[in-house]
Amino acid sequence: MVRLQKFLAAAGVASRRKAEELIRQGKVTVNGERAVLGTRVDPEKDIVRLDGKVVTPEKKVYLILNKPRGVVTTCRDPQGRRTVLDLIGSIGAAVHPVGRLDYDTEGLLLLTNDGDLTNKLIHPRYQIEKTYHVLVEGRPTEQDLETLRRGLLLEDGWTAPARVSILKEMRGKTWLEMSIHEGRNRQVRRMWARLGYPVLKLRRTRFAFLTLGRLRPGEYRHLSREEVRKLRALTREKG
Ligand code: URA
Repeated sequence: MVRLQKFLAAAGVASRRKAEELIRQGKVTVNGERAVLGTRVDPEKDIVRLDGKVVTPEKKVYLILNKPRGVVTTCRDPQGRRTVLDLIGSIGAAVHPVGRLDYDTEGLLLLTNDGDLTNKLIHPRYQIEKTYHVLVEGRPTEQDLETLRRGLLLEDGWTAPARVSILKEMRGKTWLEMSIHEGRNRQVRRMWARLGYPVLKLRRTRFAFLTLGRLRPGEYRHLSREEVRKLRALTREKG
């Protein structure tokens, strides 16, 4: 059972506050009875009407996209650059990105119209781990890696301990795998810059338990029910 105003907001009828107003004004009925503030509904069974018209809950959509480089993680770009929504096209639901990847970062990006889950997944309290493959210029030392594992000081404070290991050393460049659970702006790039290693490529390979699998850059897929259930469970355990 959910609060009626939450149901109306999730259905895209109005904001929660506006929905409360509509209920107070007597414009909403549940199974033919005039609703009051505090009414709860079962979205599967109850018939909710606003001004006599049946309100159907918005279907929740959950996607993972393999974001290519050169695409912005916003819904609209004032500079007219390609956005992640341009890649998804019309799917009949107003999805939004969960957090963001920089213009030049590629990899796993979750998108959904489930605002509740989005807020939880990006909230520091739940410590959702994100894993990146990072190509840096130069050869980080074991001491550098230890610094990242302990946490280092950026302009906006100390970073939480990261997990980091070397994947491949090449001439003058190094591929590393790095996992963090914070989501500050340009955090990975700033952490490496702080140690003196410019990031040449950055790819997110994992978000919690989700990986890209066979998705090529620009491709997306819907999450399975089981995957959505597991994501929700992650935001309950520590809640
Ligand atoms: N950290 C960054 O610096 N950039 C991203 O896009 C994601 C994490």
